[in-house]
Amino acid sequence: MSKPDPVPRPTSGDDALAHIFLGEEGLQDPSPYYRYMREEAPMHRSANGAIFLSQYDDCREVLRDNRLGKSTTNESLLSSGDPEAAQVRKDQQMKAVEENHAASMLFLNPPAHTRQRALVSRAFTPRRVEALRASIRTLAEGMVDEFVEAGGGDLLDALAFPLPVAVIGTMVGVPEADWPQFRSLITATAAGLEPAATADDLREGYAAHAVVRGYFQDLVAERKANPADDLLSGLIQVADGDDRLSDNEIVAVTTLLFAAGFETTTNMIGNGMGALLRHPDQMARLWNNSSLLNPAVEEMLRWDSPVQLDGRTVLEPAEVAGEPVEVGTRVMTLLGAANRDPKHFEDPECFDITRDEGPPMSFGSGIHYCLGANLARAETQELFGAMIKRCKTVEQTGELRNRRRITLRGYLSVPVAVTAS
Ligand code: HEM
Repeated sequence: MSKPDPVPRPTSGDDALAHIFLGEEGLQDPSPYYRYMREEAPMHRSANGAIFLSQYDDCREVLRDNRLGKSTTNESLLSSGDPEAAQVRKDQQMKAVEENHAASMLFLNPPAHTRQRALVSRAFTPRRVEALRASIRTLAEGMVDEFVEAGGGDLLDALAFPLPVAVIGTMVGVPEADWPQFRSLITATAAGLEPAATADDLREGYAAHAVVRGYFQDLVAERKANPADDLLSGLIQVADGDDRLSDNEIVAVTTLLFAAGFETTTNMIGNGMGALLRHPDQMARLWNNSSLLNPAVEEMLRWDSPVQLDGRTVLEPAEVAGEPVEVGTRVMTLLGAANRDPKHFEDPECFDITRDEGPPMSFGSGIHYCLGANLARAETQELFGAMIKRCKTVEQTGELRNRRRITLRGYLSVPVAVTAS
C-alpha cells in the first residue's frame, strides 16, 4: 500500500497547481501535488484555459505530436499570475521584435527549427560525445582532486557549475576567463521560463539577456576576424547553399547552446547529489558498486529532474489525451509528474539506483528532444565516477536550499564535506 501524503490533499487541480508553482511546500517537494494531478486531474484545464498533463504517456504523446508546437507569445501560464508580470512579458516581446532578435531552435517550429538544429546536431551525436569522454574525465578528476584537498565545500560552486561550463564553453568557443560571469547572468535570464516569475524577476532577466546578447554579438564579430576551432567559428563558416545563418541567428543559437549546456547540467548534478544525501543507503550502494553509475544517473534524472515543466501550443486541430482541443490552447507537460507515474515506474516515489524501466521524461520528447542529452549524461557520469573513486565519504554539512524554480529546478547550494579514499 502506498504511504499517505504528508501534506493536506489539494481541493482541485488549480489548487494543486498553485502549490506546485507558488507554494512553499510545493516548491520544496512537488511530488504529493503531482500525485494529485495524475490521480484526480490527469488532463486538467486550468482557470486560464491552459491544459496540464501529468501522466507519462500523455506528456510523451503531446511532445511528439507536431500539430502542437511552439507559440510566439510569452504570456504567463498561471491564472493567479501577476498582471504586472504579464505586462512586462508583453513589453519585452515587443522590444525583442523591435531590436530584431532571432529565435533559437527551442522556440521555433519546422522548417526553421529543422534547419537550425541540423546545423549543430552533428556536434552532439553519441559518437562525438564519446570522443569527448576522456577529456571530460580528466577535467572531472582534476576538479574532484581539488575538492578533496579542500575537504569539500559547495558542490555547485566547486564541481557542478565548473565542469559543464568548461565543456560547453570550450565546445562553443567562449573564452575561459568569461565563464564565471555567466552563472548568475544565465540564471537571471532563465527566469522568463518560470510560469510564476514576478515582474522584477522578468526585468532583471531581460537586463541580463541584453548583457549576454551583447557579449555574443561581440564574440561573433571577433571570430569573424579570427576564426578558431570551435562551434561558433563553424557556424560562421557554414555554407549551406545560400542558406547561411544570419549574425542574429548565430547569436541566438550559440547563446542557447552555451546556456542550456551548463544551467541544466549544474542542477542535474546538484539534484543528483541531493537525492543521494537524502538516501544514504543508495549512496552507500553506489559507492560500493560503481557499475551502478549509469542507472544511478538515470534515476537522479527521474527522481528530481532539473527540468520539470515543458509545453506546447495547439497549432492545428488535434486531440490531447483523447479529447479534441482548440487551436491556440496551451498544453503544459509536468515532466516531474510524468517521472513519478506508477503506470510507468514501479513504486515511483522510491529512489532506487538499480531501476531499469526506460528513460525518464526529463529530456522531453519529439523534435525538440534535448540536443545535449548525451553530453549531460556523460558529464554527470564522469563527475560522480570521479567522486566515487576519490572520495571515501561525502557528508552534508548544511541545508539544501531549493532555489524556488520549477521549469529549471535546482538548489542554491549543496554544502558537503568529503574525505579522501
Ligand atoms: C540534465 C541536463 C539537461 C536537461 C534535463 C535538459 C532538458 C531539455 C528539455 C526537456 C528540452 C526540450 C525542450 C522542449 O521540449 O521544448 C531540451 C532541449 C534542448 N536542450 Fe537540453 N537539457 C539538459 C542539458 C543540455 C545540454 C548539456 C545541452 C547542451 C548543448 C542542451 C541543449 C539543448 C538544446 C539546444 C535544446 C533545444 C532542442 C530543440 O529545440 O530542438 N541541453 N533540453
